[in-house]
Amino acid sequence: MKLTVRKAKGPGGRIKVPGDKSISHRALLLGAIAEGTTRIRNFLPAADCLATLACVRALGVEVERLSETELIVYGRGLHGLMEPKDVLDCAGSGTTMRLLAGILAGQPFYSVLTGNEQLRRRPMARISEPLRRMGATVLGRDDGRLPPLTILGGNLHGIEYRLPIASAQVKSAILLAGLYADGPTVIHEPGPARDHTERMLAAMGAHIEVQSSKFRVQSSRLSSLDIVVPGDISSAAYFIAAACLVPGSEVAIEGVGVNPTRTGFLDALNGMGADIRVENQREVSGEPVADLVVRAGGVRGVEVRGDQVPRMIDEFPILAVVATQAEGKTVVRDAAELRVKETDRIANIAAELRKLGARIEERLDGFVVEGPTPLVGTQVNSHGDHRLAMSLAIAGLAAEGETTIEGAECIVDSFPGFEETLRALMN
Ligand code: S3P
Repeated sequence: MKLTVRKAKGPGGRIKVPGDKSISHRALLLGAIAEGTTRIRNFLPAADCLATLACVRALGVEVERLSETELIVYGRGLHGLMEPKDVLDCAGSGTTMRLLAGILAGQPFYSVLTGNEQLRRRPMARISEPLRRMGATVLGRDDGRLPPLTILGGNLHGIEYRLPIASAQVKSAILLAGLYADGPTVIHEPGPARDHTERMLAAMGAHIEVQSSKFRVQSSRLSSLDIVVPGDISSAAYFIAAACLVPGSEVAIEGVGVNPTRTGFLDALNGMGADIRVENQREVSGEPVADLVVRAGGVRGVEVRGDQVPRMIDEFPILAVVATQAEGKTVVRDAAELRVKETDRIANIAAELRKLGARIEERLDGFVVEGPTPLVGTQVNSHGDHRLAMSLAIAGLAAEGETTIEGAECIVDSFPGFEETLRALMN
């Protein structure tokens, strides 16, 4: 599928973005192993989360779909999952595979996790290694480094583990396995990765203690919860960027999750001098939520590194787009993880933005953009990566003429309705 975008004049209006992807996955997975019924509202009906839904059902969990975005999960308790009759297909979703592996490590049965070609290239040693240390048998191609993964779980014991990378997926996999382990599991994280699992576990009554970068979890029963999923700040990021870039814009985005482990992009834009107001702050289902109002204005280059990186790990492609229109240099360091996302996001965003006329150079662990450069519309490619496709669409709003994004169908992996929301703002 191709998506064609033309140079825009002042997008404006009030919009909502769909539910948070990370929280939608966790609501399903934790709801499945909780006792009682978990009602999820504003669930994200994107391909990634639907893969989690299918896996949970294949493990014997009944899930009633009241509408596209409202579900009831009939939890089976920690020990109620059933051996799946077939391989579990995680499609393109790394979160599904890694978090589910943590739960499956605790199950006394055989299961196989697979996914599409893109997911089968992504690194899994980061979870197979600690889960093996806890006592699970985890097999996979290249000695457990690549999917498909075969898991024979049960009889876990707690470990103390220092995460080699600031990854919420890895942290969550170990925390979830820790629910099934004998004795406490202690995790130290090197930087602030998103904390939705910890928040939801605590809200469900798990024995979990958090002391800045140290987590301690113990085997505990979970009680069901009513969860209202906030709008996804990673989806909002595209329209925040659009409003910053296109002269004359003013966009309000309602009900966006502003968990501090996710707001690195807002900090980066503030550092660039963008005009962003955070209004009506409140708490919804244990997560901070706000309305964001963004107005166009000149932006300047910024440097992003260190602890800010995990707090905006999915927003680097769209940051690169904003940087093409910023005065001066934007430098990103300490972000080598971008090379093992759905695609190599450093190489691919650099290659595609160059086609539009941007000055962007790759670094091993990031990139450097020199701005501002006028962009000129042409044909670009998503490489099958949803975040690249949407970032390039926003670049198209700032580019002269017409920009066509090839392979735009992957946008449904995280943001069904993206094109409609974009068109609504242009009218
Ligand atoms: C996610 C964590 C991040 C992020 C991904 C979703 C999660 O990955 O890139 O889109 O839901 O835990 P890492 O934890 O591997 O950095």
